Amino acid sequence: MMNFDDLHQEAKKKILDAKDLKDLNDLRVYYLGKKGPVQALMKNMKDLPKAEKPAFGKKVNELKQDLNQRIEAKRDELTILEMNHKIEKEKIDITLPGRRTRSANLHPLTLVTEQLEDLFIGLGYQVIEGADITDDEYCFERANIPKDHPARAMQDSLYIDENYLLRTHTTAIQMAVLEQNAPNLPIKVVCPGKVYRRDDDDATHSHQFMQMEGLVVGKHVTLSDLKGTLEFLAKKMFGQDRQIRFRPSYFPFTEPSVEVDVSCHICNGKGCPTCKGTGWIEILGAGEVHPNVLKMAGYDPNECSGFAFGVGIERIAMLKYGIDDIRHFYTNDQRFSDLFDRFE
Ligand code: DAH
Repeated sequence: MMNFDDLHQEAKKKILDAKDLKDLNDLRVYYLGKKGPVQALMKNMKDLPKAEKPAFGKKVNELKQDLNQRIEAKRDELTILEMNHKIEKEKIDITLPGRRTRSANLHPLTLVTEQLEDLFIGLGYQVIEGADITDDEYCFERANIPKDHPARAMQDSLYIDENYLLRTHTTAIQMAVLEQNAPNLPIKVVCPGKVYRRDDDDATHSHQFMQMEGLVVGKHVTLSDLKGTLEFLAKKMFGQDRQIRFRPSYFPFTEPSVEVDVSCHICNGKGCPTCKGTGWIEILGAGEVHPNVLKMAGYDPNECSGFAFGVGIERIAMLKYGIDDIRHFYTNDQRFSDLFDRFE
């Protein structure tokens, strides 16, 4: 049997060295339990002379008390230690950046449509939309393109039946707007929307694309009004240094008709691959509304005049953002749309 003092020393050291609460509890059960060495000392008491018994009993009790106190002190220490350890382990670093929720962007065609709309709303225009399905009357007849007109050949489309078709140009909306407003003046509208053509898709052609029609009708609305308006558009979309020029052209629904070029925003008009060395880029068709068109809608061409233009939204977007293939707009590759975040 271990001597009293050795036992005390050993127990004190082990309690001091206990590495966790479980370890400490094992020590408590061992030293103070019924089968432990302290209890074994008590058993020796019966062999002692009577006079020594009280002193021995007292000593063993003091030993028990001392060990108990040490165990409790150690338990407090270990409890705090374990709690600190747990706090440390579960600490949340509030300086970590949060997880970004990915917000969607506008499709570049929506972006450019909205930019154009904003620009014209700023000039006092109304935005009017129409249905994608229209009829022969509004798509062609009212636009001064009768059945035997060669211009029809360039605008074949998807027909629903003999009469109804997917509109080939937003000029169909222009014709409806004219009829609905006649004979009131003035009219100032832009009409964005999808249009459809029978076409083989390639880098510059798509059977479905977008246009925005512009129409102003009033007293003495002239080509110079058109020029000022389009100059504003060119500067807003392609930069303040842009200039525009008119080239004579032909459209059945305008007279005179013009093709409008903007000075190249890449080379500043010096000549580069984008403008094919000319310094100019064609952006849209326009003209003075043909008297026949005004007449068919219910206006007197001697009393009023107007200008109209039709701009391809893809064309503007491709020029503005350097997009080389019209099919990018329609193949729904998220990586393509993601590029336009920074242009908002
Ligand atoms: N409708 C024409 C086209 O799709 C574009 C156009 C040209 C519209 C001249 C107009 C205009 O209003 O005046 O090719």
